[in-house]
Amino acid sequence: MRKKASSIPPAKRAADKAKIPLYQREFYSWLYESPRLTKWLDNQKLLNMLTFGFSSKMLQSCAGELKTSSNVLQMGGTFGDQIGVAASKIGIFGHYDLLDVSMVQLRHQRNKYCYLYPFMRFINGDASNPIDKQYDAVICYMLLHEVPSESREKIINNALHCLKPDGKAIFIEYNNAFIWHPLRWFVKLFNRLYQPFAEKMWHNEIKNYVHNPSEYNWRKITFFGKMYQKVVVTKKDSLY
Ligand SMILES: C[S@@+](CC[C@H](N)C(=O)[O-])C[C@H]1O[C@@H](n2cnc3c(N)ncnc32)[C@H](O)[C@@H]1O
Repeated sequence: MRKKASSIPPAKRAADKAKIPLYQREFYSWLYESPRLTKWLDNQKLLNMLTFGFSSKMLQSCAGELKTSSNVLQMGGTFGDQIGVAASKIGIFGHYDLLDVSMVQLRHQRNKYCYLYPFMRFINGDASNPIDKQYDAVICYMLLHEVPSESREKIINNALHCLKPDGKAIFIEYNNAFIWHPLRWFVKLFNRLYQPFAEKMWHNEIKNYVHNPSEYNWRKITFFGKMYQKVVVTKKDSLY
């Protein structure tokens, strides 16, 4: 039976109208299509409190991979200071494209950053669709755990395909935390309730989704008792 329009929450109704993937409409529209909740959660202090300060460490580590004046694509907006810190590192002679499926999120990011960083472009699109531009760096920050495996595979391979020959992709993601990690079981329960695709990140390496992994160099470090990972991928030099 079809639900009456008035019984569907406004955030979900907006997501249904826009070209937002099914997983986002079903599981995350309450958050990403709600400007009020977005404003409330977009708070670095809160993110640091929830991650015992590791949120700031990870966003600094991600920005540390970027070169000044480079051409960067970010797949999916993030809360807190991550985008601002990366944009500061790139600087006014660089380009920073932010690609997001949600117009609510893009508007929020544009209002937050367009005057501070005029070299940013805010693009409404899906990172699982092919990307026709080439970049020095692609950032995929805490996006993969929110998407089903099929989209995850497309997003990861797209990120690698749109790299310039000496470019790099930076993935920040959940990882399989140490068995004794005090938050391991809490995070597991939270994921089972609210982030149905996240646990896959515990059991499958990002590398395993790539069609031609041997053509790339892989570097991985972990944070917070292995709860999070940073994976940096660069193309191997061609022999020909
Ligand atoms: C990158 S994750 C960030 C997760 C977490 N809230 C954070 O701040 O670290 C969420 C963002 O990705 C966007 N998103 C989800 N699926 C996407 C896709 N296939 N392509 C581009 N953006 C996507 C969502 O609209 C949302 O703005």
